[in-house]
Amino acid sequence: MRRRIVSAACAVLLFAGGAVAATGGGDIPIKNKGGVVLFRHSLHVDDAGIACQACHPDPFLSAKQHKKVTMKEMQKGKSCGACHDGKKAFSVKGSCSKCHKK
Ligand code: HEC
Ligand code: HEC
Ligand code: HEC
Repeated sequence: MRRRIVSAACAVLLFAGGAVAATGGGDIPIKNKGGVVLFRHSLHVDDAGIACQACHPDPFLSAKQHKKVTMKEMQKGKSCGACHDGKKAFSVKGSCSKCHKK
């Protein structure tokens, strides 16, 4: 399930009507030097109402094909920083603990 490619998961989600299964790719732990950041699909898709296409296939594909970025790159708009810029969503220049949980 976790290794399923994104387009296949989209089809499954459409088939399931989006209500029963976990949203998108579920909760995904992203390990890094700053600890572990838990990316939650439900929060972005269900709560914030963001479409799959805003994140897939660019900049995100799957946990296995994750493209590592630094916070510096994120502050320049890469990865999470595409939205977490202080306008569309809280900025990666602060609020560290909102993403980096111990
Ligand atoms: C706000 C951005 C965002 C949105 C919106 C989003 N995703 Fe994701 N998705 C991610 C991230 C981040 C990953 C982890 C990939 C990585 O680490 O590079 C991911 C991974 C996945 C994976 C792979 C899971 C795995 O374990 O490898 C699937 C499947 C997936 N998403 C499906 C969806 C579907 C279907 C939707 C729409 C209902 C959706 N996503 C919406 C950001 C998003
Ligand atoms: C929007 C969520 C988010 C916020 C806010 C955030 N980070 Fe991160 N951070 C991440 C993610 C995700 C990664 C992993 C990136 C990767 O591996 O591709 C990461 C990686 C890191 C890393 C390892 C990579 C590097 O740049 O050396 C450090 C250290 C770090 N964060 C520190 C911080 C600090 C300090 C803050 C607050 C000023 C912060 N982060 C704010 C999501 C966030
Ligand atoms: C397509 C835009 C987009 C992308 C890309 C995105 N986010 Fe978000 N994120 C949002 C929005 C919008 C919200 C809800 C508004 C807010 O909290 O500022 C949100 C909320 C969050 C929250 C909830 C914070 C809280 O406690 O309320 C976390 C944590 C988070 N994002 C982490 C991440 C991480 C980690 C990544 C990268 C792997 C990421 N986001 C990528 C748009 C995005």
